[in-house]
Amino acid sequence: MSETGASSAFEDAFHKAAERHERAWVFLAVTMLTLLLAGTMFLVVYAYGIVVRTDGFRRDPAALDAPEGSVVKTGPNAYTVTVVAHLWRWSPSPLRIPKGATVTFRVTSADVLHGFAIQGTTVNVTAVPGITGSVTYTFNRPGTFNIVCNEYCGLEHQGMLGRIVVTGDPA
Ligand code: CUA
Repeated sequence: MSETGASSAFEDAFHKAAERHERAWVFLAVTMLTLLLAGTMFLVVYAYGIVVRTDGFRRDPAALDAPEGSVVKTGPNAYTVTVVAHLWRWSPSPLRIPKGATVTFRVTSADVLHGFAIQGTTVNVTAVPGITGSVTYTFNRPGTFNIVCNEYCGLEHQGMLGRIVVTGDPA
């Protein structure tokens, strides 16, 4: 009887000690994760300046330095085109340019995220409201190129098509 009593007293003490250790280690792990998360957030915001620019996303795309859909000739056969994505169309479309034209597309969105991709080319830029992306491409062969939206943007996403017509004659 005395032997069983001693063993049970030892077991009780053992379990209590084990529980204390478990609590301590769980506390330590949670504290480390919390500090890591908070530290990372402070680092990202204050050291790298990465923040969600809510102002930028609210900025009126009409305030861009070039008017929507504008085509500006910048060289003998070079153009800068300001492309604005809307639910659910591209502006300008259709865009007519001569063969061999080098076009810099400045791409933004008037509403939500869209994806500006020209089929059969390497052009692929995300259209972000309040932010202007830029890509340059030279159209060396005549033909009709489709602009597709490759970022899901709602009900008519799949029908959001535009057109670039490259005419046969160089400028
Ligand atoms: Cu615009 Cu999908």
